[in-house]
Amino acid sequence: MRSYLFTALLASGGFAAREFLNEPDTGIDDVLKDLPKGTLPNLSDIIGLPDFDWAARHYLPTKNYTYYRNGAAGEWSYRNNLEVFHRYRLRPRVMVDITKIESTLPTTILGHNFSAPIFISPCARGAYGHQEGELNLLKGAAAGNILYMPALLASYTIEEIAAAKAEGQVVFQQLYLSSNDTETQDLLDRSKAAGANAIVFTVDSAADGNRHRAARYGVGSADSEYTYITWDYYKKVSTMTDLPVILKGIMTVDDAKLAVKNKVPAIILSNHGGRQLDGSPSSLEVAIEIHEKAPEVFKQIEVYADGGVRYGADVLKLLSLGVKAVGLGRPFMFANVFGTKGIEKAIQIIKHEIAIDAANLGVGNLDKIDPSYVQWTPNNWMG
Ligand SMILES: Cc1cc2nc3c(=O)[nH]c(=O)nc-3n(C[C@H](O)[C@H](O)[C@H](O)COP(=O)(O)O)c2cc1C
Ligand SMILES: *[C@@H]1O[C@H](CO)[C@@H](O)[C@H](O)[C@H]1NC(C)=O
Ligand SMILES: *[C@@H]1O[C@H](CO)[C@@H](O)[C@H](O)[C@H]1NC(C)=O
Ligand SMILES: *[C@@H]1O[C@H](CO)[C@@H](O)[C@H](O)[C@H]1NC(C)=O
Ligand SMILES: *[C@@H]1O[C@H](CO)[C@@H](O)[C@H](O)[C@H]1NC(C)=O
Repeated sequence: MRSYLFTALLASGGFAAREFLNEPDTGIDDVLKDLPKGTLPNLSDIIGLPDFDWAARHYLPTKNYTYYRNGAAGEWSYRNNLEVFHRYRLRPRVMVDITKIESTLPTTILGHNFSAPIFISPCARGAYGHQEGELNLLKGAAAGNILYMPALLASYTIEEIAAAKAEGQVVFQQLYLSSNDTETQDLLDRSKAAGANAIVFTVDSAADGNRHRAARYGVGSADSEYTYITWDYYKKVSTMTDLPVILKGIMTVDDAKLAVKNKVPAIILSNHGGRQLDGSPSSLEVAIEIHEKAPEVFKQIEVYADGGVRYGADVLKLLSLGVKAVGLGRPFMFANVFGTKGIEKAIQIIKHEIAIDAANLGVGNLDKIDPSYVQWTPNNWMG
């Protein structure tokens, strides 16, 4: 049997590069094969986060889905964000008491309490997935007690989103800032007046993103400016508000160190979900670079990360290096086709997976996870 398979593999070119799977095959195509295009499955049919991608692709007009799914150029960074996690094997420890793992998920993000070290990354145009757009994301985050970062380019305004907050709900407002100080001051003041607890200044988009798939459907980036974003400008912005201004889109250890030097309270390692610069590294690769060259950064400031996170074990790999909280973008935008219930389910899924994966990894306390739980020499799984 084995030699037959071996021959069959050779004959079929089985040693060629493995095919990219946007969602690995876990049977959803078989179980939902009779579901008519343009209809939603039942939420109970959703087992893991990748199923939300399947459901949104099946249900939404192609244009809407494409806006969310798109990556820059040939989408190599988009794919790498998903695949990179599997190049690093876990090193599970056994005979460890893990029975209290769930009670160790709660954490703080910039001093605010949350039920888990995860957050909803800022994504524009929530109404492409559901009429209530960002309001669902906000309400789902409140129900699950996790952090939400509304995007400036949301379908609802800063004020409309703020008005729908739960009592005491913490949100970090994402902004794109230009060198027009009048506009910058206005955005900072509106965020403050709306009760935002921090500003997330996105710095990975100095120029327009090169988005082929999106342009084909007329849903590419509308930003055609070259934006003035420098460390001098950061200094100025941080004097224009009393809110903490964190930076989103750090992609090298060099800039992580400069962020420390420039007294940035927290950074988000991110390549914008592979939507800006094809060839930019995944946040896991950046976290590894910091771990190798300047691990003190993880202690000097809070470091968050996002991009391609779909499973509990992905979160664990980032946390093990010293990342304090992990963001997810597309999974929540796709979950939003089910409304607030979809967001709540997505949060439950990832929280449950973090707990059971940590337990099987032999981590009894999430605070105590460290780099020894991962083999940091990449394997050759692509071969
Ligand atoms: C549809 C979409 C819109 C986005 N819009 C923004 C945005 O307006 N501002 C921003 O800083 N990041 C934006 N991002 C990037 C996300 O904040 C986040 O970095 C990325 O989605 C993480 O990768 P993931 O989707 O694989 O989880 C967007 C991402 C997507 C998918
Ligand atoms: C959803 O579940 C209900 C009740 O089990 C069932 O009747 C219905 O066919 C399901 N819908 C889809 C789209 O699978
Ligand atoms: C956050 O949690 C800590 C520890 O459980 C608690 O002492 C503190 O009061 C909480 N802070 C807020 C604002 O709820
Ligand atoms: C697709 O996006 C458009 C534009 O935001 C929106 O009006 C429409 O409701 C969306 N379709 C669905 C099914 O959500
Ligand atoms: C800056 O923005 C304000 C408000 O939008 C506008 O009135 C002004 O003309 C802009 N200044 C420059 C130099 O573009």
